[in-house]
Amino acid sequence: MAVRRADFLMALAYATDLATGHARDFALRSCVLAVRFAQTAGLDQNMQRKVYHQALLRYIGCNADTHLLAAAWGDEIALRRELHHIDMGNREQFVQTFIRAITRKLAGASPEELAKAIERGLAEGAQVNIPILSGHCEVAQRIAERIGLPEDIRENLGQIYERWDGKGLPRGLSGEAVKFPVRLVTLAQDAIALLDQVGFEAMKSRIAERAGGAYETELAELFLGHSEKLMSGLDGPVDRETILAIEPLPHAMLDETECEQAYLAIADMIDMRMPFTFGHSRAVAALADAAGKRMGLPAADMRALRWAAYTHDIGELAIPVSIWMRAGTLTERETDAAHLHPYHGERALLPLGGDGRSVAALVLRHHERLDGTGYHRYAKASDLSPAARILAAAEAFQTAREARPYRPGVSDAAAASRLRADAREGRLCAEAVEAVLASAGQPARRNTADRPSGLTPREVEVLRLIAAGHTAKEAARQLDIAPKTADNHIQSLYSKIGVTTRAAAALYALERGLVQERFSAA
Ligand SMILES: [Fe+2]
Repeated sequence: MAVRRADFLMALAYATDLATGHARDFALRSCVLAVRFAQTAGLDQNMQRKVYHQALLRYIGCNADTHLLAAAWGDEIALRRELHHIDMGNREQFVQTFIRAITRKLAGASPEELAKAIERGLAEGAQVNIPILSGHCEVAQRIAERIGLPEDIRENLGQIYERWDGKGLPRGLSGEAVKFPVRLVTLAQDAIALLDQVGFEAMKSRIAERAGGAYETELAELFLGHSEKLMSGLDGPVDRETILAIEPLPHAMLDETECEQAYLAIADMIDMRMPFTFGHSRAVAALADAAGKRMGLPAADMRALRWAAYTHDIGELAIPVSIWMRAGTLTERETDAAHLHPYHGERALLPLGGDGRSVAALVLRHHERLDGTGYHRYAKASDLSPAARILAAAEAFQTAREARPYRPGVSDAAAASRLRADAREGRLCAEAVEAVLASAGQPARRNTADRPSGLTPREVEVLRLIAAGHTAKEAARQLDIAPKTADNHIQSLYSKIGVTTRAAAALYALERGLVQERFSAA
C-alpha cells in the first residue's frame, strides 16, 4: 500500500482549522491562494513546495500547551478566531482582543474583579504567550519531521508568527530574516481570513494598510495587483483533488510503516493539547491492538483498528479546551458540541481514502453502543463491526482509568467491572470487553459475560445452538433434553432478550459474542 502524504496533510489541516477557530477549508483555500501567488511571483518548484507545505501545516503545532492558553484567557478557540482578523502588530487591536477574552472568561464577575483580572492579564500576557508560541513552532517542526518532511520545509514552521516589521513573536525576527515562504503564506492566510470576515474590497484595504508592517510592501503590491485572479473561487470550499493536483513535484508517497508513523504523530498531536489526555490515544491503540489479535481480526482490520485508535479523538480539537478543563458539568449546548467530535473525526480522516476510509468509519463509531445509546448517530449492533466494538471497549476502559478535571480516574478493577456491567446490559460487546480486559491484565471472568440478560447457562447453550442454525429439535438432541423442554427454554430466552424470531435471537447472540464463544470453545 502507498498513500499520498498530501492526504495526511489535508487531514491535519482540517483538524487544525477546527482547533484554531478558522472557517471550513481555511488551510486548503489558503494553500491554493499561496501556490497561485508563488507562481505569480515567479517562484521555482522548490519554493512552491515550501509555500504549499507552509500553508497546509502552519498551525499543526498549535495544539501544544492549549491548556495554558485556556487557563490564562478562557475559550481559546474564540480568542484565536479574533486574532486571525486583527493586525497583531497594532498594539491597540492586540490589547483589546485580550481584554475581550478576559471579559468572556469572567462573564458574571464584578466590575472590580474584572478590572483587576484585566490589569494582571495585560501585565503578565507576554510571559504567558511567548513560551506557548515558541512551543507551537517547535512542536510543528517535530510533527513535520515525524511525517517525513525535509529540513527546508520544517525550518519555515519555526517562524509561523514572525512578521516583516519585527513585531511578530516569539523572536521578533524582521525583514529577510523571516523566510520568504513564511512571509508569502502569512499574507495569503490573512487575505483568506479577512475575505471571510469583511469581504473582498475591505480585505484589500486591510492588506494595503498593513503593507510595510506585517508584509513587505512589494509583496503586498504584487498581491493587490493580481488579487481578483488570485482569489477567484476561493470564497467556497476546496476539494481534495484540487490540493493533490497543485502539489509541486515530486509527490511524496508513504508506505505502510511511514503511514503508521504519520498516524502516531497525529495521535500525539491530539493528546498533547491537555495534560490529562497525554498518551491517551497510544494507550487506547495498544489495548485495541492486543484485543484485536486475541479476537483474531484479519490484518487489514487490525491496521485500520490501530490507526483509528491513534486518531479517534481528532475531532475533539473542535471543542475548546476551556470546556474540558472546567470542573462542573457541561451545558446542553456544550454536550451537543462534544458529542459531534466523532463526526469531525470522520470528516478529518476521509481525505485519506483507501484504508483511511475504514479508519474514518471506525473513528465515526468510537462512542456508539450496541443498544443505540451511544453517540452521535445512535448506531446499533448491526452497524458495529468487531473492530468498532473493540475500539469502543478499549476507549471506554482507558478513559475510565484516566482522571479528568471534572472526575477522578478509577482503578483498573473498577474500570473492568464498569465495562462488564456495560456488556451485561447490552451496551458493549462482551467478547470485545473480555479481550480488552485480558489485554490490560485483568483476570478473566467469562461466566458473567457469557450469560447476559439474566439467561440461565442452559438457555445460553440453547441460544448458541439455534443461533448457529439448529432447529429446536436438533438442539434438544444435542443437549440430551426433551423437545418440549427445548421449546420452553427458547420461549423463556426469547422473552428475556426481547426478541420474537430465531433470526433476531441469532443476531443477539452475535452482538454478545456468544456465537464466537461457541466456536472458540469447540
Ligand atoms: Fe472520543
